Amino acid sequence: MPTDGLYPFQWSWDSAITALGWLEFDEERAWQEADVMFSGQWDNGMLPHILFHGDAESYFPGPDVWGSNTAVPSSAISQPPVWATAIRRMFETGKDRSLAESALERLLPKLIDYHDWWYRERDPDETGLVCSYHPWESGMDNSPAWDDALARVPEVDWEYQRRDLGHVDSEQRPHKPQYDRYLYLVDFYKKNGFDSDAIYKGCPYRVIDIGIVAILHRAGRDLVELCRLAGESAAIPSIESELARTQASIGTLWSKENRCFLNHDIVTGEPIEEVTTATVLPLFAGLANQSQSAYMADLIDEWLDATAFALSSTHPSSERFESQRYWRGPVWLHINWMIAEGLYDYGYDDLAERVKQATHKCVDKSGFYEYFDAMSGAGCGGGQFSWTAAVALYWLA
Ligand code: GLC
Repeated sequence: MPTDGLYPFQWSWDSAITALGWLEFDEERAWQEADVMFSGQWDNGMLPHILFHGDAESYFPGPDVWGSNTAVPSSAISQPPVWATAIRRMFETGKDRSLAESALERLLPKLIDYHDWWYRERDPDETGLVCSYHPWESGMDNSPAWDDALARVPEVDWEYQRRDLGHVDSEQRPHKPQYDRYLYLVDFYKKNGFDSDAIYKGCPYRVIDIGIVAILHRAGRDLVELCRLAGESAAIPSIESELARTQASIGTLWSKENRCFLNHDIVTGEPIEEVTTATVLPLFAGLANQSQSAYMADLIDEWLDATAFALSSTHPSSERFESQRYWRGPVWLHINWMIAEGLYDYGYDDLAERVKQATHKCVDKSGFYEYFDAMSGAGCGGGQFSWTAAVALYWLA
């Protein structure tokens, strides 16, 4: 679980990042993290963003609200697909080879199905840019990038009781009108019987999330490598053709003026002019060309000095920047790790080191909180947070 109280179940991308932390001192436990997560994979290949192991009374919305009725109770959307990247790293660095080899044999077909699901169900028109149906799917739930797209979604008309506010100060959490719309979308999938076609055509919220596109692409490259390592070459051509499609279309999301890629609102057909940490993740994916990477490196160079604690999840020049509210300004460690990895890949080693030092500074100041105020460095959200500790273990240490 990400943290007791606020998030008492298994979240998909938390789990992948956390497995990397476990790998540092308990390899069996790290692989178990993956096995348990994939035990909740849907028959169509989707990996839910939450698996509700056990009683979900303390959390809202629980499995009854999602209505997905699966063997392992779950939500009905996914999350940034970082799993193949985590598993490649686990496979390549794990010391217990027989453990790693048997785990890869079990997990590889599931990873292939999962990636297949993204392209089949979320990009039926083969644009190369998968779409996302919920801000929660981005993992950057309350990012200002989603504000306008979410504002067009109707509000639910039933009463409900939020549980998050019992754990965390309301100053650090989303407002009610946003929550009403989050829940409308949850209802919408259920009312449409989780039918991909109907949702793709009619969902009032559809965006191209550059974070998901980038993480999926990076994970796809790692998946190809895993297939090679496991001698499963038959699956490679179709993954490579999906990678090629994204590579061919990514340029449409580039904004030289902003020095980064932009999210895109599919409903209005417009780019979303908001610079967030997701908008530089194409570095992590290897999706940027040399000139684009140089622009992004420049942006990051300045961004690192723009707040006392960095990188702020939303650029501080945004009118919607708030240093401690969920995804509107605070720093998340695993995002810094991905950006730094991308910078190393493109040869910006000094800059990557600065991102690493900035990350260290948050933990040094406040410990293992969920996220950190970009101005004061104060720990925010849940305390004793799994992915924060995991990043400290496998990267900072
Ligand atoms: C919040 C975050 C999401 C994370 C989850 C559990 O919903 O926005 O990224 O996966 O908490 O930590």
